[in-house]
Amino acid sequence: MEITILGIESSCDDTSAAVIRDGVLLSNVIASQAVHAEYGGVIPELASRAHGQNIVPVVDAALKRAGVTPEQVDGIAVTRGPGLLGSLLVGVSFAKGFAIAQNTPLMEVNHLQGHILAHFVTRPDDPNKPKPKFPFLCLLVSGGNSQIVLVRDYLDMEIIGSTIDDAAGEAFDKCAKVMGLPYPGGPLIDKLAQEGDPKAFKFAKPTVGGFDYSFSGLKTSFLYFLRDHVAEEPDFIEQHKADLCASLQVTIIDILMNKLIKAAKQYDITEIALAGGVSANSGLRAALATAGEKYGWATYVPPINLTTDNAAMIAITGYYKYLREEFAGLDMAPAARAADL
Ligand code: KG4
Repeated sequence: MEITILGIESSCDDTSAAVIRDGVLLSNVIASQAVHAEYGGVIPELASRAHGQNIVPVVDAALKRAGVTPEQVDGIAVTRGPGLLGSLLVGVSFAKGFAIAQNTPLMEVNHLQGHILAHFVTRPDDPNKPKPKFPFLCLLVSGGNSQIVLVRDYLDMEIIGSTIDDAAGEAFDKCAKVMGLPYPGGPLIDKLAQEGDPKAFKFAKPTVGGFDYSFSGLKTSFLYFLRDHVAEEPDFIEQHKADLCASLQVTIIDILMNKLIKAAKQYDITEIALAGGVSANSGLRAALATAGEKYGWATYVPPINLTTDNAAMIAITGYYKYLREEFAGLDMAPAARAADL
């Protein structure tokens, strides 16, 4: 029997809908919200309003591109959290309405679990792309989270390390902001870093126990470093932008990779994956490949369009929940914090 799942994602500033049939991606529509760029960060109230405007046309486009009618959808999966509450509410309310109207099961999805399961989306243009084998370790790095996750099965995951303050993506974005780069700064730092010398400047790395991360110290020291240099040389940032980006990027990557290598050794796991928005970073992808060769890992990176927020990853997670009949009730409420999920 064919199983068709509609996925909905609205946790931050992307409204997305995707259709997956038996694990194969039929469509993945993403409406990004340009409205936040002029503020240098996501404004929650504006995000909720834009989701409200986008959700119906985005779902309609996803169904049409997939060639699927609402009646052919077997189950609807929606991000329950973590994320911005008002934004989540739009997706969750829509999904409940759809579930009632079509009399289909509803599956609630943890956004972070979704990022990891993006590896199991089969794309028609690359159907034989290898998928991680259980158990594997996943370095999940996004705008809101930096975690090392032990993945035992599709729906059996354990967070073994987490950031105690800022996420890696936040470090990229906030440091970019102090350099005067537009939001989100991560992709721009990645681009500029390619022309810079990663050894030009040295930034302190945190000493945090276990497999946990910390990025707020790096962000602060980067800010003070710039302030001191700009005081002496007003166009310091302009003159050294590429070197600053390259040095900062390599520091973030070293911090991320050191803990990942430690975790792989301790858990004796050689299946290693990246996930989340920052997994698009070219330096991080190269560092993973290098470590893979050195330590004999099989490494996995998601396709670029499935690294940032998207509904395909929500639909695939919903698909595994559907198979296990893990359905949500209509009283399910969105949860802003991961701890409340
Ligand atoms: O996963 P995501 O879309 O949002 C969350 O769920 O948090 O991740 C967005 C983050 C932003 O911080 C953005 O700057 C970062 O991913 N990002 C990158 C790159 N592409 C996106 N960071 C570094 N290099 C990139 N190429």
